[in-house]
Amino acid sequence: MKLLVTGGAGFIGSCFVRMALREKHAARVVVYDKLTYAGNLENLQPVAGRPEFRFIQADILDGNAVESVLHEESPDAIVHFAAESHVDRSIHSPAPVIETNFNGTFTLLEAARRFGLKRFLHVSTDEVYGSIPEPLDADENYPVRASSPYSASKAGSDLLALSYFTTYKLNVTVTRASNNYGPYQFPEKLIPLMISNALDDKPLPIYGDGLQVRDWLYVEDHCNAIFAALEKGSPGEVYNVGGNCSLPNIEVVRRILNAAGKPESLMTYVTDRPGHDRRYALTNEKLTRASGWRPQMDFNEGLAATIQWYRDNRDWVARVKSGEYQRFYELNYTSRS
Ligand code: NAD
Ligand code: DAU
Repeated sequence: MKLLVTGGAGFIGSCFVRMALREKHAARVVVYDKLTYAGNLENLQPVAGRPEFRFIQADILDGNAVESVLHEESPDAIVHFAAESHVDRSIHSPAPVIETNFNGTFTLLEAARRFGLKRFLHVSTDEVYGSIPEPLDADENYPVRASSPYSASKAGSDLLALSYFTTYKLNVTVTRASNNYGPYQFPEKLIPLMISNALDDKPLPIYGDGLQVRDWLYVEDHCNAIFAALEKGSPGEVYNVGGNCSLPNIEVVRRILNAAGKPESLMTYVTDRPGHDRRYALTNEKLTRASGWRPQMDFNEGLAATIQWYRDNRDWVARVKSGEYQRFYELNYTSRS
């Protein structure tokens, strides 16, 4: 299969590309990525020399660049990861989030429609359902009730993508995954931020009471779900992708501290995130029924492997924390403490 992967230099996209080339033997993988603060060519270094691999630095908002690559490469499918992916950034600065996540997806869909693309996989999130009251688990028919500019931009792009199936018969499938963790994640998200602060003996900032619940999904399990949805998913359908691992944030942070051998006194309670969703919870049954996919990674094992990766890759962490990261950390955390 020939794949065009947007956002393939980010956390999940780069895992997908490494797996596509090393395990799934894809005939061709073209990464299309703007290289924002979150995009990093080092994430693709393990496959950069492969003849089947090509990297293009470009913006998904640039319709001409998207059309050119479609005509040059004739991919069998677009797998669309590119996004502004951080909720806190979307609260401080919503404009680029709406631009990339909604208008960028629109640009890709239009190019795909005009080209006559055979398959479009839109990677989305469980955040589109908003906070789920206990004891419910959201299935794909749960109402979309996004809370943050980030989740609203993803919900809007999901609906737009699905409208291209309904109206133009573009072969679109949407996946909605829960919170990912694993190697190469930019240390602005909960797990890598807490690991990196713990390893540096710095305070671990917990928003509000820390009892918010998230479902944790190992990044390779997520990528396998996307391969499953590409192969077995039906056009016009949405598939949830969860890790079957719901935990309150403070429990996740405690496990990180225990696994890293650091004291719980590093935990620091700070001002809550505005509009903070209390609980995410999903059922995966639809994707399991369609493809047999199930999450495989045990959370404690995945966490231990992730902590080890951050210990072994201190240089990667130092490099990604050297620039934009510092500015955002000041902006997001100084006013909270
Ligand atoms: P990330 O922030 O690590 O990477 C995003 C990538 O997109 C980067 O390489 C960046 O350079 C690129 N990008 C951003 N704007 C672009 C633009 N305008 N044009 C081209 N490239 C651009 O994100 P991630 O955590 O890997 O998430 C990937 C996708 O998965 C996103 O669509 C996100 O909404 C979705 N998702 C993420 C999670 C999670 O827990 N991280 C869970 C569910 C769904
Ligand atoms: O649910 C899927 C979503 O998961 C993805 O769509 C998003 O791209 C991804 O960023 C993630 O969103 P969250 O907002 O859930 O992830 P984040 O890692 O930012 O926060 C996880 C939880 O931890 C959330 O309840 C907020 C809390 N938190 C986060 C940070 C960064 C803290 O308590 N302290 C922090 O410093």
